[in-house]
Amino acid sequence: MGVDGREGESATARGTGAGRDEFDAGRSFPEAGERAATLDLPREELDALAAMFQGLATEYMRAPAAAPVFPETSAEQLAALLRRPLPEEGSGLEALAEECRAVVVNSRANNHPRMFGYVASPAAPVAVLAEWLAAALNQNVTSWRSAPAATEVERTVVRWLAELIGYAGRGVNENCGGLLTGGGSAANLAALFVALRARAGAEDDGGAGAISRRGLWGAGAAMTLYASEQVHLSVPKAADLLGIGREQMRLVKTDESFRLDVRALREMIEADRHAGLRPFCVVANAGTVSTGAVDPLEDVAGVAREHRLWLHVDGAYGAPAAAAPDKRGLFRGLELADSVALDPHKWLYAPLGVGCLLLREPARARAAFAGTGGDYIEVFERDEDEAFAFWDYGPELSRPFRALRVWAILRYYGARRVAAAVSEDCALAAHLAELVRATEDFELMAPVTLGICCFRYLPAGAQRQLESAPDDEAREQLNRGLDELNARLLHRLQRGGAAYLSNASLRGRFALRASVTNFRTSRRDLAFTLEAVRRAARAGED
Ligand SMILES: Cc1ncc(COP(=O)(O)O)c(C=O)c1O
Repeated sequence: MGVDGREGESATARGTGAGRDEFDAGRSFPEAGERAATLDLPREELDALAAMFQGLATEYMRAPAAAPVFPETSAEQLAALLRRPLPEEGSGLEALAEECRAVVVNSRANNHPRMFGYVASPAAPVAVLAEWLAAALNQNVTSWRSAPAATEVERTVVRWLAELIGYAGRGVNENCGGLLTGGGSAANLAALFVALRARAGAEDDGGAGAISRRGLWGAGAAMTLYASEQVHLSVPKAADLLGIGREQMRLVKTDESFRLDVRALREMIEADRHAGLRPFCVVANAGTVSTGAVDPLEDVAGVAREHRLWLHVDGAYGAPAAAAPDKRGLFRGLELADSVALDPHKWLYAPLGVGCLLLREPARARAAFAGTGGDYIEVFERDEDEAFAFWDYGPELSRPFRALRVWAILRYYGARRVAAAVSEDCALAAHLAELVRATEDFELMAPVTLGICCFRYLPAGAQRQLESAPDDEAREQLNRGLDELNARLLHRLQRGGAAYLSNASLRGRFALRASVTNFRTSRRDLAFTLEAVRRAARAGED
């Protein structure tokens, strides 16, 4: 099984009958005097460069806390250090090494154990090294004929990811498939495009063919989609990019745990139907970006089925937690989704640049993306697997070998060890919430579901003032003051280098947000971080 659900088909009739040509292996290219300009390097020079890059990369990986989380620098200093005119002549190894070192020490350290901002994980060492190999191979993973092994690796990785999160298994979504993308935003965009085409209706009603030819002007009534108000910004952006329109993206209210309110969803869909609109898709969150909330997937799937809507699950951040035995229950119903986005470059510790779109029926993607012509990419292979092309399933033609880094992680560590790391990240976020609850100068701002803990700093007396505020207006004013204080201290903390948090806006309130997706973080780092927050707050009082 792969992107087009090919499992079970016989492997006979493979197109290997063509004769093999002679090839002059063993010769170096070009030989001396054959070509004037080459970028090839003599062996010693290549080895010296390899040692330099390897040394920098392994040193960085071996000492994750050696430098501050955020470098002590400024845009002006960096420009002075790195901005140069186009070099007419090459620098040689020493100067290149020095500038690479400057890049290392002036980067935010996403591998630091106290890096809790956004969703930034350290890259697993084996995947970093696999990246090097992938770059050397420089496969263009358009199709089997351009990248035979890389295509097989990608299709296998897609299957592994589907199994890892419980989207596929024995008797479950046997024919699912998908492809790797540049990230979660790209996966969400592609999913909505497929959903739009799959639910466009009959041709005479402005169906998929009419939309493809004439654009959404050919679609008849406006098509609407639904997601909770906690949806990631990439989804409304996709609605905009696809010409659906941001106003046709309905934001459904959430409950006290920031989970989509299913009753409100049903009411909105019914009201839109009544008004003559065409609801076509619901996006459920499997780990919201702000708090890690997981929508009630099974109930949302029920509504989607009732109204024939495409169900897309955005698990870009949270889906890997479905591999953790203690979190699996939260994801019941995930297997009912028509499509799922998940990001190996977030919580599977892959280096950046790899997301994944899973589809229950890959043929839906083919129907949406294939058939756009282009004689020069003609495939001559006849065997189904060898004729396979990713360009029929997504928007990209040239595609990098994204799969090797994910393959290396799952192959080398195994799914169990990766799931254990995710599970421990979740336990650490829960521990941070306990630390926050146990103090008077911090307040927990949202329940901890997965690996995200949102809280705020309260200066002495603030809690009492909030409790005794005479009315809502007075409380609002106090809260606004706390929003400003926390925003200021966050900036100070981020630039201070001891620890790095980001922020979330929760029901209009400013929260400090710690996302633990880091196999290096320990309990000690959490306590240290709360101290660093206190120090940043006190520094503002001076
Ligand atoms: C829930 C969710 N969806 C989508 C995305 C977008 O993913 P990417 O940054 O890989 O495009 C994110 C990023 O944080 C996310 O948390």
